[in-house]
Amino acid sequence: MAKNILTEERFQKLYEVIENNKGKKGALMPVLNEAQNIFGAVPLEVQKTISKGLNIPVAEIYGVVTFYSQFSLEPKGDYVIGVCLGTACYVKGAQAIIDRISRDINVEVGATSPDGKYTLEATRCIGACGLAPVLTVNEDVYGKLVEADVRDILKKY
Ligand code: FES
Repeated sequence: MAKNILTEERFQKLYEVIENNKGKKGALMPVLNEAQNIFGAVPLEVQKTISKGLNIPVAEIYGVVTFYSQFSLEPKGDYVIGVCLGTACYVKGAQAIIDRISRDINVEVGATSPDGKYTLEATRCIGACGLAPVLTVNEDVYGKLVEADVRDILKKY
């Protein structure tokens, strides 16, 4: 993990959240949401704390964290680059674009750079097929891409 996200202060906040939700029905999802906000991820140490606090097996928590895309096991980079690999984008060459980005920033798809700057992800259709192929950097959307555009886009970040 590039940055130490497991600070004492954050665990204190998590304990409070657990205390407030303990015994409530369906407590796990709100606690996980808060944990994701507090730590920027829900790594195993955090899952164990939640497991103890809510008396839910770690395996079950792990299953939820890995199932829902709003949770991540590791913190994401400052810039999350998502390349849509949905059908429309795929047929218009999205694979070449994601490969190109991966080479340029030296980060595997699904991974975060060691300095914590970039996370590269393949995404499903984001509903902008008319602009295929599409890539997003945090909230910014870029469409009708060709491989040669990649460098200029990355320069901005
Ligand atoms: S397939 Fe890429 S936006 Fe729909």
